[in-house]
Amino acid sequence: MLLKNKTSIITGCNKGIGKAILELFAQNGSDIIACIRKESEGFDLFIDTIEKKYQIKVYKFYFDLENLDEIKSCIGKIAALKIKIDILVNNAGIAAGSFFQMTPMRDLEKMMQVNFTSQIYFTQGISRLMSKHKIGSIVNVASTAGILGDIGTLSYGSSKAALMFATKTIAAELGASNIRVNAVAPSVTKTDMYHQMDEKSRDNLIQSSILKRACEPIEVANVVLFLASDMSSFVNAQTIRIDGGFIN
Ligand SMILES: NC(=O)c1ccc[n+]([C@@H]2O[C@H](COP(=O)([O-])OP(=O)(O)OC[C@H]3O[C@@H](n4cnc5c(N)ncnc54)[C@H](OP(=O)(O)O)[C@@H]3O)[C@@H](O)[C@H]2O)c1
Repeated sequence: MLLKNKTSIITGCNKGIGKAILELFAQNGSDIIACIRKESEGFDLFIDTIEKKYQIKVYKFYFDLENLDEIKSCIGKIAALKIKIDILVNNAGIAAGSFFQMTPMRDLEKMMQVNFTSQIYFTQGISRLMSKHKIGSIVNVASTAGILGDIGTLSYGSSKAALMFATKTIAAELGASNIRVNAVAPSVTKTDMYHQMDEKSRDNLIQSSILKRACEPIEVANVVLFLASDMSSFVNAQTIRIDGGFIN
């Protein structure tokens, strides 16, 4: 029970890594503010099961990271709950690959908006709420794509590199409010995103890691739990790679 009496905001938690984080946090006693893009019956049923199974409360909010008005309105609704926010996990994101010379600017802008600028906007609003209580942990889900540098990863890699840089800057500014800010950088992880990747590049990446396999969503969730909880109380402004080990 690493998160007992805490409330955590998790974005993009209807599937993949976010869903694994939601269930692990619930299992560890946290109430959840689940932020997803669209209302769905499947997600409602999943949440009902989670609330009963772990005896926690889940609040559901909806916004699209491409729509600043929706994000602003959601921040307002979260503020209106008047509850202490302890943890923010910026998990929602998109991926796409294309050669640098063939990348339309609108695709690059969309990637930067969803994976970077909107994450910053949401974090601004939520961190203002967290600052009031002088405690908190923010975890950004980045990617090894923002570290390694590879063919076809210009837009996705740049958006995640920007998020990792922001992690350090925001940590420096929120330290005075006793809010820690860290990131995780997973490599190939078995979610829907896994199936969107170019098969050859994906397999090359897997074979380049020491453990030579893809990551499971729960293996990312475990590191996010560590960073969100007091177990990492002196870990700050870091990006932890979850990639099975790259030594070259
Ligand atoms: N899978 C990997 O190999 C891998 C590796 C490194 C890092 N990551 C990162 O891990 C995070 C989670 O990805 P995943 O692998 O779990 O992928 P996923 O299964 O495709 O989930 C992505 C999540 O982001 C949400 N999302 C996408 N665009 C959005 C938008 N415009 N507004 C609001 N929500 C939006 C999705 O919502 P919808 O269901 O509504 O689309 C979904 O909840 C991402 O930040 C990703 O970049 C993944």
